Parts: sequence; structure tokens; C-alpha cells
Amino acid sequence: MQFPLKRLHFGKFVFDVCENVYEPAEDSFLFAENLDIEKGAEVLDVGTGSGLLAIVAAEKADFVVAVDFNPYAIRCAKENSVINSVRRKMVFIQSGLLAAFNEYEKFDVILFNAPYLPSAENEVDSWIVRSWAGGVNGRHVIDEFILQAPPHLKAHGRILLMQSTLASAEETIQKFEEFGLKTRIKAERQLPFFETLTLIEAKNV
Ligand SMILES: C[S@@+](CC[C@H](N)C(=O)[O-])C[C@H]1O[C@@H](n2cnc3c(N)ncnc32)[C@H](O)[C@@H]1O
Repeated sequence: MQFPLKRLHFGKFVFDVCENVYEPAEDSFLFAENLDIEKGAEVLDVGTGSGLLAIVAAEKADFVVAVDFNPYAIRCAKENSVINSVRRKMVFIQSGLLAAFNEYEKFDVILFNAPYLPSAENEVDSWIVRSWAGGVNGRHVIDEFILQAPPHLKAHGRILLMQSTLASAEETIQKFEEFGLKTRIKAERQLPFFETLTLIEAKNV
């Protein structure tokens, strides 16, 4: 058991915020507010952090696989799944993006609140920095995710990806469409200093 830094609430859910793990922020909450999971869905949450999206999704989903490369995040998300009584529906895997899955493992919905902020090459390396830093153009992790995720969608499956306009939402939409996915902006929120949080949905049609 880790000692939580503090507790956060989202609707009826309760989340411990853990050391070395991304604290749910405006992007996490905008994503969770727009999370429409069908009853019985099989869901993958990439970069689960404290587990907020995975746990909210688990209410309706049949099962949720939560992945993060940060071992502290996996421990934290697991504890939060117990607090919210959804542990039995969840599997936790410490892995980089979708590296843990073979070509036959496919999902109805794949979620990713990505690291999307432009960052210097020599940015201090820590688990917290790696949760938001997207390299010089903010697209380092997003571009790798766009290559890895589409083959793991079931027929009619969907990807929900949160990023900001600082990492070019247009480029993400164009790349998903090159994979033959039907793409739309599902939600947006304006932030100070000309930045907009953008939740992009890309559907296998
Ligand atoms: C912006 S945080 C989002 C956390 C949580 N999903 C939320 O919405 O509050 C991004 C998360 O992705 C994880 N992450 C970043 N790059 C990753 C990678 N290549 N493979 C797996 N996880 C990664 C980070 O450790 C972090 O937990």
C-alpha cells in the first residue's frame, strides 16, 4: 500500500493521488466527462496513471486492461480499482504503449490521455515529466501510439485520444485517416495562452 498524497473525487468515484504518478488534471476530467462506454465493451486504457479513465470505463465495460510504463502508476491504479470496487473487472500491465499485445488482442475502445506538451530534449527525466513531455513538437509519443493502436481495434472499434493543439490535432486527424479510420473531434476545452485540449475519436468503419 502506498501512502496517498491526497484524494480526488470524480462523480461517485474516489482516487488516491500517488507519488511519482500524474495527478488527474483538466485533461483527465474532460476525457472522463466524455467517456461513453457501451455496456459489455472490452476496453484498453493506455497510460493509465492513477487509473481514473480505466476505472470510470470499468463501470459499464465487461473488462478493462490498464497499461502504463510507470511501475508507480500500475500500483496506484490497482489500489484505486480496489477503492472503487472494480478490481475484478480489471487487468494491469506494466508496458510501453501496446507492446504487450499480440496481433490477435483487439478492443472495442482504446483510450489514451497522451503526453502531448512540447518539451526540450534535455528535459529533467522523471516519471512525472515523462507523463506530459512529448518531445520538441509534442508528438513523440502520439505518433508512436498512432502506429501501434489501430491494428488492435475490433471491427467498429474506437480510439479516444486526448491531446492539445500545441501538438497539432490536425496532424493526428490526418494520420488516423491515413489508417482508414473515421475521425472527429469529440470534445474541446479552451485553456489560457492559445491552447485547446482536444479529445479526438477515430473509428474503425
Ligand atoms: C497525461 S498522463 C495521463 C494519466 C491518466 N490516464 C489520466 O488521464 O489522468 C500520461 C500517462 O501515460 C504514461 N505514459 C507515457 N508514455 C508512455 C508509454 N510510452 N508507454 C506507456 N505509458 C506511457 C505516463 O506514465 C502517464 O501515466
